[in-house]
Amino acid sequence: MRLRKKPWIAKALEDFKGQELLEEGLETCRGHWAEIMGGRPVFLEIGCGKGQFLAEMSRLHPDKAFLGVETQREVCYYAVKKLREQELTNARVLRADAANILEWFAPGEVAGIYLNFSDPWPKARHAKRRLTYHTFLERYRTILKPHGHLRFKTDNDGLFEFSLEEFREFGLDLIALTRDLHHTPDIVNEAQTEYERKFSALGKNINFCEVVF
Ligand SMILES: C[S@@+](CC[C@H](N)C(=O)[O-])C[C@H]1O[C@@H](n2cnc3c(N)ncnc32)[C@H](O)[C@@H]1O
Repeated sequence: MRLRKKPWIAKALEDFKGQELLEEGLETCRGHWAEIMGGRPVFLEIGCGKGQFLAEMSRLHPDKAFLGVETQREVCYYAVKKLREQELTNARVLRADAANILEWFAPGEVAGIYLNFSDPWPKARHAKRRLTYHTFLERYRTILKPHGHLRFKTDNDGLFEFSLEEFREFGLDLIALTRDLHHTPDIVNEAQTEYERKFSALGKNINFCEVVF
């Protein structure tokens, strides 16, 4: 996701810092997320983009906490703005790189993970950056509760096949799979993302799977 540099965003984000937006001192939250989020179970969306899914899930499930992780500061702005406008108190945006996730979450602290339309990194030499690469799965296994679930949606067929293979090799149980989520009524798709709306409007099939650690 690319955005043109908008200098006013940096200023606006200063007002959100320490409230809906968390970026410094994430290590101090390690082991304390449930407490920070009012005793709610904590779910992560990694690569939350502009926060459509994050806001919608938070609205649908006030008894759960949702943390969106996003590297791009300017993109975070739009996600934070949605939370603020909808007065959602059970969600935060973490401006950070998921590669460092073990620094901010203690083992077993996370109830579930969502990966939505993750960057595909199509070149083989960039495979390690894919959020479903096995080194990421190792980190997810550490921070998830035993038998925690990961739900993955993507328009990218190549990334989907790669990910299914990574999940299989990692020994994860595949409990749901479809290559056409929007025409599979028995799989509940509670909230759509910005990318999901865009690609399905173009007629692209949406892949989905759910695995258990
Ligand atoms: C293709 S966009 C999808 C955004 C949103 N999930 C959606 O479906 O509309 C992927 C997002 O993941 C973010 N991202 C990629 N790698 C990341 C990482 N290692 N940690 C956190 N965010 C990451 C990118 O900055 C980008 O905003």
